[in-house]
Amino acid sequence: MALSVVMCTPRPLELPLEQPPGWDEAVRLTEAADADPDPAVVDVRLEAKIATVMLDGRPTQMWTYDGVVPGPLIRARVGDTVIVRFTSSLPEPTTVHWHGVEVPAEMDGSEATQAAVPPGGSFEYRFTATKAGTFWYHPHVRSSAQVGFGLYGAIIVEDPAERAYGDDLVLVLSDVSTADAGVLAPGDQHGWFGDYFGREGGLLLVNGKRLPTVKARAGVPQRWKLVNASRARYWSLEVPNAEVLRIGGDVGLIETPQPGNGVVLTPGERAELWVKPLTPGRRSSVTAVDADRFHIGYPQPPEAVLELEVLDEPARHGAEAPSGTLREIVPPDAAAAKPRTFELMDLVDGGAGQLGINGKTYRPDEHIPVRLGDTERWEVHNSTAYDHSFHLHGYAFVPTNLAGRSWPVREWKDSINVPAKQRLELLVRFDDRPGMWMLHCHILDHVELGMMTMLQVRP
Ligand code: C2O
Ligand code: CU
Repeated sequence: MALSVVMCTPRPLELPLEQPPGWDEAVRLTEAADADPDPAVVDVRLEAKIATVMLDGRPTQMWTYDGVVPGPLIRARVGDTVIVRFTSSLPEPTTVHWHGVEVPAEMDGSEATQAAVPPGGSFEYRFTATKAGTFWYHPHVRSSAQVGFGLYGAIIVEDPAERAYGDDLVLVLSDVSTADAGVLAPGDQHGWFGDYFGREGGLLLVNGKRLPTVKARAGVPQRWKLVNASRARYWSLEVPNAEVLRIGGDVGLIETPQPGNGVVLTPGERAELWVKPLTPGRRSSVTAVDADRFHIGYPQPPEAVLELEVLDEPARHGAEAPSGTLREIVPPDAAAAKPRTFELMDLVDGGAGQLGINGKTYRPDEHIPVRLGDTERWEVHNSTAYDHSFHLHGYAFVPTNLAGRSWPVREWKDSINVPAKQRLELLVRFDDRPGMWMLHCHILDHVELGMMTMLQVRP
């Protein structure tokens, strides 16, 4: 049996690499080229441009970063300086938002913190990668259309001190609407209804591919780092023929592994799964099942999105499931926390239905003052009849309760589902980085209808 060598995957010392040759070839992401030889500096170029990509076997014009969908994978390690020299040749203004990364406010890429980059323009993003985790980047101007056209990519921050849990596989989940073969649907398809219900593309993609195959060996774990980069689709994945533990969330490892046979990810959300394939010689499909975010009770049929091919050869080394404490999470101090509530709601605004927060649709000239250094306890009520994906810029939070139940594990999050008519409780500390920070529903079409507001964090 040949030992395979996979160049770009960091290799755990205690687990000799035993993934089959070419195991991740079908889903391997283009990696951004680091132009700086200094190991503590990641210096990359990124260009937003329209390009022809192969979409389910058809050449299709999409909006891309560097001509690929998803955009290039950016890898950094904790403590690294990250410089992204961004240029745009898109036909309209854009920005790059570093979803989940704790950047200074002026690097956040929202329309509150920088002027949008015009066609032909450029911007230099520069920040320090402070926390390990699975993050992503996308535009924050007309984001529902721009993300829907293909503008999204992953940024992975690794902690060299963390033990290895399996071979890394970054999987970006997205969906695309095509009007005709090879032509994307317009960003505002179906008008107000499209906004209100959230546009889900009919083509489900894993790393830009329809139903690619990942190879594996029974007993040899893989660490799947999943990003939901869809504009509106909730991804509820079931992974067959494998032992599955959720070991990470939005911002790195969770406190203890959580068993399950899959995971649900709302738009913007991430998870890390430890996946140990079981029966050798079997090919099975990872399926996306309907997450029923409208609570209408007749689910869409499940759809195969990724094939898992488990080789018909035994592994030489099996692996024990991770157990116990993966890392200690100390939540912000609840005793010192000031309460604040948000209501995600339907609004009627002169006839046309709008969405809003605390009675208002988004207005760029309004913001909520927050004191730097404060710890807050938030209650987020969803008074609508549908689920919403709550996302906070700049600060990770610890969820404590959802829909009347304690959150099952301590973890840091920035994106989370708030089910219809339910309430989320969380703790957040505004420890640093004053400035303007948005919070909004990450069903990006809902941003267009106003379900967004802004915090101003200041001393
Ligand atoms: Cu990923 Cu304000 O967004
Ligand atoms: Cu929403």
